[in-house]
Amino acid sequence: MSEKEMFTEVLDSFPVLVKQNPDSVKEKITNLFFDFLELSHLYDSAIEVTKTYLNILDSEFKVKFQRNPIHTIESRLKSPQSIIGKLQKKELPLTPESARKNLLDIAGIRVTCCYISDIYAIVDMLCQRDDFTVIKKKDYIKKPKPSGYRSYHLIVNVPVYLSGGKQYAPVEIQIRTIAMDFWASLEHQLKYKPSASITPEISEELRECAERIAETDLQMQRIFMEINDLD
Ligand code: GTP
Ligand code: MG
Repeated sequence: MSEKEMFTEVLDSFPVLVKQNPDSVKEKITNLFFDFLELSHLYDSAIEVTKTYLNILDSEFKVKFQRNPIHTIESRLKSPQSIIGKLQKKELPLTPESARKNLLDIAGIRVTCCYISDIYAIVDMLCQRDDFTVIKKKDYIKKPKPSGYRSYHLIVNVPVYLSGGKQYAPVEIQIRTIAMDFWASLEHQLKYKPSASITPEISEELRECAERIAETDLQMQRIFMEINDLD
């Protein structure tokens, strides 16, 4: 997206404000836009640092154990528009400082792994890095959400070396198996369709699907251990 397109997107977030008081707020919004652009660059760089580390871990496993623990790595950066939208919704100040302090999911990475044991191996390695600080850890595999959702969530403060020195940005990392990802993707599609009416019966069915998938994950893990003569 070009800078102009991004600026238009930000201006679109303030239609009422701009209409009511076009001249006096224009400068404020322009400054805000460039602040958010700088913020986006910092978070985007934190994503790159984390992805590079994950790719290095994956290739190291391949060299040492002749297999890749990571199946896919996806990332997304919240747009300035949705950052502003979330701040407005939470009635928080519309400033980059407020976004940095209050929103921990501006930078997001989703890792899918082959086996459950790979998830814990990746979590351990991310937590062991002495320059990454873990802000939050949630194991929704040991303790699934009431919906049936399973995944490991980690929020890590990642250092980024910029021209003016070191800065930190939080990155939300969701780590799950391919099977857990299959369920989460479809469940999200079903639930967030505007016309969807999710009855308690449907929610229960979706939870049952999640449980069956979890059993299959455990079975695949056992087969993997057996074939490789692991405990
Ligand atoms: P909180 O401390 O409750 O905020 O926990 P959290 O940040 O670990 O989880 P939160 O509920 O905020 O969800 C974060 C993200 O996890 C969401 O944006 C989704 O991507 C994913 N997620 C959480 N719950 C579900 C669920 O029931 N179904 C699906 N498909 N995804 C979920
Ligand atoms: Mg959350």
